Amino acid sequence: KLPKAELHLHIEGTLEPELMFELAERNGIEIPYKTVEEVRDAYEFDNLQSFLDIYYEGAKVLRTEQDFYDLTWAYLLKCKEQRIVHTEIFFDPQTHTQRGVDFGTVINGISNALLDAEAEFGITSLIFMCFLRHLTEDSAFETLEMAMPYQDKIFGVGLDSSEVGNPPSRFEGVFKKAAERGFEIVCHAGEEGPAEYIWQALELGASRIDHGVRCLEEDYVVNELVERQIPLTVCPLSNVKLRVFDTLKDHNLKEMMDRGLFVTINSDDPSYFGGYLNENYEQCMKELDLSENDMVLLLN
Ligand code: ADE
Ligand code: ZN
Repeated sequence: KLPKAELHLHIEGTLEPELMFELAERNGIEIPYKTVEEVRDAYEFDNLQSFLDIYYEGAKVLRTEQDFYDLTWAYLLKCKEQRIVHTEIFFDPQTHTQRGVDFGTVINGISNALLDAEAEFGITSLIFMCFLRHLTEDSAFETLEMAMPYQDKIFGVGLDSSEVGNPPSRFEGVFKKAAERGFEIVCHAGEEGPAEYIWQALELGASRIDHGVRCLEEDYVVNELVERQIPLTVCPLSNVKLRVFDTLKDHNLKEMMDRGLFVTINSDDPSYFGGYLNENYEQCMKELDLSENDMVLLLN
């Protein structure tokens, strides 16, 4: 029941199977599942890519501004239930604009739900848009241009999707331009990719590293992250579901804290990974040897 902040949450990753069916029916879209149980059974992943394939498929039921509003509102009701008082959410514009959904449809639906939740529940929020790193830098430049009429609603830009083989350095130009235009810079790095990608993300100007669990493989990266107290948005249940670690007991969260890194706990794509923020905290407390002091640090 303690008040908490969530800093790493993909709104498309909060799509629960029940809402997926409702939106598919509302929009006349066929989905390759017959029941909610069948959808949940499909959520067994070998790695990041096997998850992304299903996640992008699921996002196809989202078409109208009302769909994006309903998706976001459902997550905000969870925030209220779990006492998340501040949330920073990602959305992936290209997942939608590539299907012919207008950028404004997406951002207005999400943003209106967030405004209503602030008025009704006092939940504060920020929106970050992520460029998909499996696409080209040119596509990211186009997306940045599409975002400009809505800049007042978008706090920052990030980079997500298939990490290995798509280093941050490939997007240097577009992040430079985004920074010049006043966007905050964050970046997924060191989830499946090597510690070197975290270094590159810092060179892009990232003020926060999303995941970052592979930083421990390189001392020069750890030293920089500790010295600058760069926040790492770690997502423990996500890391187990995507087989970054075999079990939660094997997770390096505690070791990262003991090295002096600025670690936070987050849910990433809670509908797909079997738990929202409280479940991440509860299972970490149970499986990792966290002291009271560790919990105080994590919750601060
Ligand atoms: N998009 C949604 N969740 C993601 C993750 N965990 N890593 C990279 N891209 C993502
Ligand atoms: Zn993520």
